[in-house]
Amino acid sequence: MQVVLNYLKRNQARFVAELCDYLRFPSISAQPQHNKDMRACAEWLVKHARQIGLDVRLCPTAGHPIVVAKTPSAALLRRDRPHTKSNAKRPHFMIYGHYDVQPPEPLDLWKSPPFAPRIQGRSIYARGSTDNKGQNFAHFKAVEAYLKTGTPLPCDLTFVIEGEEEVGSANLAKFLKSHRRELACDAVVVSDTGMPSPKHPALTYSLRGIIAFEIILRGPSRDLHSGVFGGSVENPAMALACLLAQIRDASGRVTIPGFYDGVVPLSAFERKQFARFPLKDHDLEKLLGVKKMFGERGFTPTEQRSARPTFEINGLTSGYQGQGSKTIVPAWARAKITCRLVPNQRPAHIRKIVCDYIAKTCPATVRLEIQAGHGAEAYLVSPQSREAQAALRALRAAFGCPPILMREGGSIPIVNDFKKILGADSLLLGLGLPDDNAHSPNEKFNLDCFAKGQAMSALLWRELSQA
Ligand code: BES
Ligand code: MN
Repeated sequence: MQVVLNYLKRNQARFVAELCDYLRFPSISAQPQHNKDMRACAEWLVKHARQIGLDVRLCPTAGHPIVVAKTPSAALLRRDRPHTKSNAKRPHFMIYGHYDVQPPEPLDLWKSPPFAPRIQGRSIYARGSTDNKGQNFAHFKAVEAYLKTGTPLPCDLTFVIEGEEEVGSANLAKFLKSHRRELACDAVVVSDTGMPSPKHPALTYSLRGIIAFEIILRGPSRDLHSGVFGGSVENPAMALACLLAQIRDASGRVTIPGFYDGVVPLSAFERKQFARFPLKDHDLEKLLGVKKMFGERGFTPTEQRSARPTFEINGLTSGYQGQGSKTIVPAWARAKITCRLVPNQRPAHIRKIVCDYIAKTCPATVRLEIQAGHGAEAYLVSPQSREAQAALRALRAAFGCPPILMREGGSIPIVNDFKKILGADSLLLGLGLPDDNAHSPNEKFNLDCFAKGQAMSALLWRELSQA
């Protein structure tokens, strides 16, 4: 094992340069004008993984392609004797990640261009650095260290790196189903979450679910003169503002009837774990630039953002957006909404009660349209399992500090499918820091987290295979 860790240490500078190459692709899955860049990024990853010594192929989907890379022993198995839990002599683990990134806009807020990686101090700045290229690349480098030093791996590994995570993973579930036997594994390792600080490595045992939709209110058939007609017709922007405003009350609770049905109260054990999260109200206010924290009364910010459901406006559009003023009654108004869900809230059911409530409270003076988007259940897994305990040992050894258990508020919809389709639990071993600016301008990834993440991955295969 020491030769593997030494190899990692010796090669950090090259790894960082390679990560820069990976980060130069504007692989923005949401924007069709970047389809070519998506493809080029996937092909770069294929080539890179092949150089490491992996058996790689690019799997087309109805959307963006999936990179599948296997250690040599796993590749042999695929041909002769597909994996199943019972027949595999050696354990088989899957490493999941995504090469697509969020749109970088607004560009003027970036201190350097989002796809021109810049190193400052111990951080590398670029869109996709923490979410998720830097994190999945750490695992590639750990496996490279085994293969290039001729150190036998105690298990078979298959990387599945998709290109549609940031847009809801629409095509990955189908791929899992059609490759069920090949991808059958003992657990999935996912580094696509966070840790509170470099001194607090973390195992995440829960993620929130999500439903996404858009509300459109239509009023007059065109924008009207607000002097001539204002006051006599409903203003769709005002109607939308009123409609949305009453969905949350002054104590931060969602008012939609039934929204909290079945939500499990937090146990004393969990509240104790949450209280260990090192960032307190004041730290968060400073970090986030808010005047004052706000959330559902009776819960701490850590609880609010990881274990309580929400109704959130992601975008709000109506009327004139240009310079100066324009006196109109806008023809329409629209809002992009997501609700984060917790265990026991069924996405289809929540979508129905939310839409019914909006339809019921929408005034008769406007036409309502609701466009449904993606949805996913929350994820919750026991941190007591043998695999979780093995992961905690690897985290402690790599970071030199006791790891913490946490729940995250973000969503990785596909982990539910790993469980349903492959029967595998996910180990969420995130390397992102709270100030990494995922989805924000000036996204970064900490190079110590990168290096320690590689060591964690290297140690993990041993710990997991003995578990
Ligand atoms: N890496 C995130 C998910 C995440 C972030 C989990 C922080 C825990 C903590 C992932 O890439 C992501 O952003 N997912 C989307 C999913 C959505 C588009 C369905 C999210 O959570 O908004
Ligand atoms: Mn993301």
